[in-house]
Amino acid sequence: MKRNLIEDLGLTIDQSKGVFPAILGADLQLAGQGGATPLFTPVDGAALGSLRMASVEQVEQAIARAEAAFLQLRTIPAPQRGEFVRLLGNLFREHKQVLAELITLECGKILQESLGEVQEVIDICDFAVGISRQLHGLTIASERPDHRMMEQWHPLGPVATITAFNFPMAVWAWNAMLSFVCGDPIIWKPSEKTPLCALACQKLINQVLRMIPQFPSGIAQVVIGDAQVGQQLAASRRIALVSATGSVSMGKQVATTVAGRLGRSLLELGGNNAMIVAESADLDMALRAIVFSAVGTCGQRCTSLRRLIVQESIAEQLLQRLRPSYASLSIGDPFSDSVLVGPLIDLQAFEKMQSAIQIALEEGGELICGGERVMVPGKEGGIYVKPAIIRTPHTASVIKQETFAPILYVMTFSTVAEAIEIQNSVPQGLSSAIFTRDLGEAELFLSPRGSDCGLANVNIGTSGAEIGGAFGGEKETGGGRESGSDAWKNYMRRATNTINYGSDIPLAQGIQFG
Ligand code: UN1
Repeated sequence: MKRNLIEDLGLTIDQSKGVFPAILGADLQLAGQGGATPLFTPVDGAALGSLRMASVEQVEQAIARAEAAFLQLRTIPAPQRGEFVRLLGNLFREHKQVLAELITLECGKILQESLGEVQEVIDICDFAVGISRQLHGLTIASERPDHRMMEQWHPLGPVATITAFNFPMAVWAWNAMLSFVCGDPIIWKPSEKTPLCALACQKLINQVLRMIPQFPSGIAQVVIGDAQVGQQLAASRRIALVSATGSVSMGKQVATTVAGRLGRSLLELGGNNAMIVAESADLDMALRAIVFSAVGTCGQRCTSLRRLIVQESIAEQLLQRLRPSYASLSIGDPFSDSVLVGPLIDLQAFEKMQSAIQIALEEGGELICGGERVMVPGKEGGIYVKPAIIRTPHTASVIKQETFAPILYVMTFSTVAEAIEIQNSVPQGLSSAIFTRDLGEAELFLSPRGSDCGLANVNIGTSGAEIGGAFGGEKETGGGRESGSDAWKNYMRRATNTINYGSDIPLAQGIQFG
């Protein structure tokens, strides 16, 4: 069945041998000339085919194609570029189910969440179509007579996006749809762990390009590669923006390389998100939000809940309710409707989880439940785990790091001001939440003295943000904002124009010159 999925989507170059391309664009499909990369499904560890990564020359050629496409794309009116995205959104709607199945196959998230991810792609398409008629600048009062000032936003140039395995379509879509309407071609280096999702998305783009051939074929390309390919894109002066999602260490490398050429980067890096539960909170609501945020996507979202900061007076009560919720979680085949927790991406993720648990225990933590591997009959090659809860002192060092696995560290506080201090005391700053019925506490959390994260929620979990808002975070999360609001400005260059419609040359600041 899974084999058919890949065949149905026509992803292989050579179907009989299961060989996938490393470079995919509108009118090209090239086998990689670089090193081999293993391709398997985390569902049961079965091989999915074979793939060699793009070589240095192949990546250079992709950059050249994007550059050429830019010259044409920037001249197409933005609403027409929106039409390109509208047609693409229609295809994502049409193929929602099969694309969701591919996400589940390749990254292991449960089908419900995969459907949600494709919906996120559709939503950002709709958003970008609207934005294509709203790429607006300001007009500004000039200090000089018969002068006018204004801002214009122009296409920026080729964009490279580097994405992670956990959202193998949506994060690309945030970047790609805005790039398209802003007039920028995009090169996509997906995670080596989820190349097939990228190839499937590119196939849909190829379909749209056949419908409207006046668009340049180099508008979108997929380049399969490892960190070296990412570095090559980051180092290229011909790439106007490098948008990278992933670990802090990856982000530091990319950002350093891009900064070395004074280029532009947009980073969405590690989370380490916290939720504060105050004693006035509705615990039924909090409980549901905690479980979804902490165990959804098997704890592998950048918005996953990792730290639960609970008011002392209700800590025991909350833990007593969390235990049975965790015990009743169905763990197993992510294709099964009744399952809520699918596999971890790979063995390395499991090892990192085990080592974090061990460190937490050495640092005074108490394991409340979970942490161990679960053998799922028929899926023995998949890495399934029981989500863990560890009661931890808030001073432990392990909670300052993001471990990409379902571990929930629980700690206590006595005042909300103290809880906010604990929450903010980590290097990352992506998502945060407070559960409270007290208006003062909620407003304090949202105030300048409150959460220092890019996302701060009240009575909602840390994960599952809508696309309409700007998405991203502060500190080691990298400072970038993607997706909604005015994130489109990242993909354009701003020109400030001053126009003199008079017959004199008055100087600004009242300077008299000659
Ligand atoms: C990510 O994990 O990189 O807010 C993105 C969320 C999703 C996106 C997560 N909409 O959880």
